[in-house]
Amino acid sequence: MSAPHAVVTGASRGIGAALARELRARGWQVTATSRDEGGDRLALDVTDPASFGALARVLDARPVDLLVCNAGIYPDKGQSLHDGFPPEMWAETFATNVTGVFLTVRALLPNLRAAERPRIAVISSQMGSSTRAAGGSYIYRASKAAAINLGRNLAADLAGEGIAVGIYHPGWVRTGMGGAGATLSPGDSAKGLADRVEALDIATSGRFETWDGREHPF
Ligand SMILES: NC(=O)c1ccc[n+]([C@@H]2O[C@H](COP(=O)([O-])OP(=O)(O)OC[C@H]3O[C@@H](n4cnc5c(N)ncnc54)[C@H](OP(=O)(O)O)[C@@H]3O)[C@@H](O)[C@H]2O)c1
Repeated sequence: MSAPHAVVTGASRGIGAALARELRARGWQVTATSRDEGGDRLALDVTDPASFGALARVLDARPVDLLVCNAGIYPDKGQSLHDGFPPEMWAETFATNVTGVFLTVRALLPNLRAAERPRIAVISSQMGSSTRAAGGSYIYRASKAAAINLGRNLAADLAGEGIAVGIYHPGWVRTGMGGAGATLSPGDSAKGLADRVEALDIATSGRFETWDGREHPF
């Protein structure tokens, strides 16, 4: 049997790069994508509808056993309620963190349908959980809440086709986004996420889980 094939978006650095490395170390074939084509990565800007067509053409009919929607931005860190959070920032963040996930899934559905045990992982955040509404970061929080909701509704629609959808909080991770003071290394987050996606199946589809396997409230 040939090695399973994963596609990971936003794999130029941070959690996406670490997860691509971890999956390869576990024997997966990984197609890593990033905004800038480089190394062995394919080009994919998830805010650019044209770039999905190009990715689909390169992948052709190749089965995708796992799609990890990881690309994301958090531009409103530290914005002020009084004069921050400009409308363009809402638009860019939703285009990346929500529409980007939807368009990635839709573009690769034929490849997922061609796989034996197809899975989709949506990398959201505990900041999108309404049970952790600590205030601030309105744009990022709303976008990650929408990503959880999108993942759950995709899980409902795709269950009949045997495509499982997992939604994950990767931990607070030392990346460009998480910052140097974060508690978890990208490698440790990636190990946990790889365990989660390898275990994901239709029975657990639609769950929101942490990198270390705890179910997270919505
Ligand atoms: N770090 C944390 O503590 C933490 C916690 C909870 C959730 N998350 C989530 O985990 C995911 C990865 O975060 P990270 O910490 O690894 O962030 P990061 O270090 O800032 O990396 C983000 C990745 O997303 C890519 N990206 C951004 N916009 C894109 C676009 N339009 N098209 C394609 N790729 C794009 C970036 O590519 P470029 O190199 O081209 O910019 C980069 O590869 C995100 O969804 C984030 O929200 C992170």
